[in-house]
Amino acid sequence: MGSTSLLPMVARRLESKVALITGGASGIGESTAKLFHRHGAKVFIADIQDELGQLVSKDLASPDCFIHCDVSNEEHVRNAIDSVVTKYGKLDIMFNNAGIIDPFKQNIINNEKADFERVNSVNLTGVFLGIKHAAQVMIPARRGSIISTASIASVLGGISTHAYTCSKHAVVGLTKNVAVELGQFGVRVNSISPYGVVTPLAERFFPAKGEELEKSMEVPANLKGVYLKAEDIANAALYLGSDESKYVSGHNLVVDGGYTIVNPMYAMQFSK
Ligand SMILES: NC(=O)c1ccc[n+]([C@@H]2O[C@H](COP(=O)([O-])OP(=O)(O)OC[C@H]3O[C@@H](n4cnc5c(N)ncnc54)[C@H](O)[C@@H]3O)[C@@H](O)[C@H]2O)c1
Repeated sequence: MGSTSLLPMVARRLESKVALITGGASGIGESTAKLFHRHGAKVFIADIQDELGQLVSKDLASPDCFIHCDVSNEEHVRNAIDSVVTKYGKLDIMFNNAGIIDPFKQNIINNEKADFERVNSVNLTGVFLGIKHAAQVMIPARRGSIISTASIASVLGGISTHAYTCSKHAVVGLTKNVAVELGQFGVRVNSISPYGVVTPLAERFFPAKGEELEKSMEVPANLKGVYLKAEDIANAALYLGSDESKYVSGHNLVVDGGYTIVNPMYAMQFSK
């Protein structure tokens, strides 16, 4: 059975659901698209990487489920959601996952306004637009699950760039605010905050690549002997997209092996 083959009906947790995943051509989004498909969902992916997106959509046994979409462009986002609704008559799951990061520059005085705005236009404005246009469809349907990818940089300072950290904190704020507004319509709004996962985005940010990067991420990790994979984040999205999380809204699901709950410096001073 191939990795994208459908599971037996009883194990399918998204049977008859329709999902749109931004940033679905690569990394966490690609992995989530494949997992959602295996669980019986009709999956559309929206991305700016056309070739990769087409390849992923072939894996989903639906070559026309890729939509070119720059999430910072409102017309693109509106069009992506309209295309899904035109084809399947509804949208059950909106996964705002597309994201970028700027090069790390330690001092705020060296940070460029253009980088700050570029990162926020994708990571924050892109999420805002995804939520706004998904809500347009989900409010009259009186159901839906909106999920956005934040990061451990949504709850911690000092581990990423200023622009990225701001954008991810803001995604969590927006998630909470919209969850309050949309609860009355039965629409759930949540975010997922991963620890480091080896993907093209992470490989652009860190000097190490592939296995070396994965190993280097284990050094500061709290949970040892296990590596966080894109599939683990896909599983978190599967939970939030499925009816198993029917009473979960306004939540930031941190998938970090406990990294953000501990400050190891405190214990280290006693172990000297
Ligand atoms: N990899 C990690 O360590 C990590 C950790 C925490 C959070 N995240 C978040 O996970 C999400 C997915 O990132 P990833 O790690 O899978 O990286 P990735 O680079 O593999 O995937 C990101 C995808 O977003 C797409 N994208 C970028 N700009 C876009 C735009 N304007 N419109 C539409 N699509 C666009 C890219 O083409 C790419 O396919 C991002 O929001 C990222 O911030 C990643």
